[in-house]
Amino acid sequence: MDRLLVTGGARLAGTVRVSGAKNAALKHMAAALLAPGRSVVRNVPRILDCTLMGRVLEHLGVPVTWEGDAVSIDATTLTSTEAPYELVRQMRASIVVLGPLLARAGRARVALPGGDEIGSRPIDLHVHGLAKLGARIRTEHGFVVAEAPDGLRGAVITLDYPSVGATENLMMAAVAARGTTVIDNAAREPEIADVADLLVAMGARVAGAGTSTIEIDGVGVDAFHPVEHATMPDRIESGTWAAAAVATRGDITIAGARADHLDLLLGKLADAGATVDRTEDGVRVRQAERPTAVDFVTLPYPGLATDFQPILMAALAVARGTSIATENVFESRFLYVDELRRMGADIRTEGHHAVIRGVERLSAAPVRALDIRAGAAMVIAALTADGRTSIADVHHLDRGYEDLERKLTTLGAEVRRDGEPVVVPDPAAAR
Ligand code: EPU
Repeated sequence: MDRLLVTGGARLAGTVRVSGAKNAALKHMAAALLAPGRSVVRNVPRILDCTLMGRVLEHLGVPVTWEGDAVSIDATTLTSTEAPYELVRQMRASIVVLGPLLARAGRARVALPGGDEIGSRPIDLHVHGLAKLGARIRTEHGFVVAEAPDGLRGAVITLDYPSVGATENLMMAAVAARGTTVIDNAAREPEIADVADLLVAMGARVAGAGTSTIEIDGVGVDAFHPVEHATMPDRIESGTWAAAAVATRGDITIAGARADHLDLLLGKLADAGATVDRTEDGVRVRQAERPTAVDFVTLPYPGLATDFQPILMAALAVARGTSIATENVFESRFLYVDELRRMGADIRTEGHHAVIRGVERLSAAPVRALDIRAGAAMVIAALTADGRTSIADVHHLDRGYEDLERKLTTLGAEVRRDGEPVVVPDPAAAR
């Protein structure tokens, strides 16, 4: 069985150390394909998605070894240029091997990811951009096949929408092209700048990553050397702990969190009544009273991340007053709301808006984790509920949160997996 049992009522308190950013580490691992030799990515979270990315790389003939939080990727030779459906199906982010694989090998065949519980996940922007770089692209038998036998050439690409994955795929391809590429209306998420930092350390020339115009001076496919790079802290995990502090009226110090990546979220939590302090090495979030309602709107960075939407909703489900949430990034990211309703939340959705009437207390119920962040929302809701909530499909949480039960337990939550008690760790060793 695949369940997390969470008993509500505890006010979470203490220090938790945030892990490396899933959504940067996955791309760092893919970028390692560009350089023959052994690259090492540090601060990689030990989560299912990173394991799956390792499997994708191994399928390409690239050995991947783990030592603590360091992943060593030996891309000396590639023996395949295909990412199979079986792996892509389990993790859509596998699509980011398309750009570096095409750049390095002149050919890539990657299974089409398909949709999921948060929306249809098209890759048209990835494909159009790579075609602008000179790749010949077709889809056949459920795969996207890209070829550039004579290499890629620089181009001006204006994205219709600042897609994170498309920006990264194009950046990882364009670094190896001949000539200059400009990506306009690029995604500005902090992870993009972190991926660019690794590429630059590898020998690429990239300017403007983290802004909406990225300029890449292509250095050709033979210019890359292996690197060592440490992944940035996970801002979504940081925000999850911040919201958990607010929902449970707790006091959590999030060690390693970058407050500058969390401006809007922390502002919303302060509006809900939280006291937010920057510490030497992170952020401390305290909530004395029941949170008050706040409205929020998700947007590409620097807007409020869509990944925070379920997490904030769970906290606002027990707020005083009525909040309005607007989801602008993924078309069906409210599906999990039915699960919150099963716990007594008073939430109505209409298109991409949700109206959340805060209730005094949620009530424990059997629920499901529909995706990573919906799963985190269920955990937060369960922490505020009376009784023990059973969260099924917890593998979604394992995809994105490292050591979740141990971290929760360290903060005073009562959590068990499949009825087995979690070993309480030495707080001094807590990360
Ligand atoms: N889109 C298109 N065409 C494309 C690409 C995207 O229409 O070719 C649309 C999508 O359908 C969606 C929107 O653009 O409506 C945003 O998608 P984007 O490409 O920016 O997202 P992504 O790269 O697929 C990453 C994160 C997500 C996060 C989003 C938005 C990774 C592995 N995933 O996805 O993280 O929600 O950016 O910030 O980096 C998570 O961690 O739980 C998660 C879902």
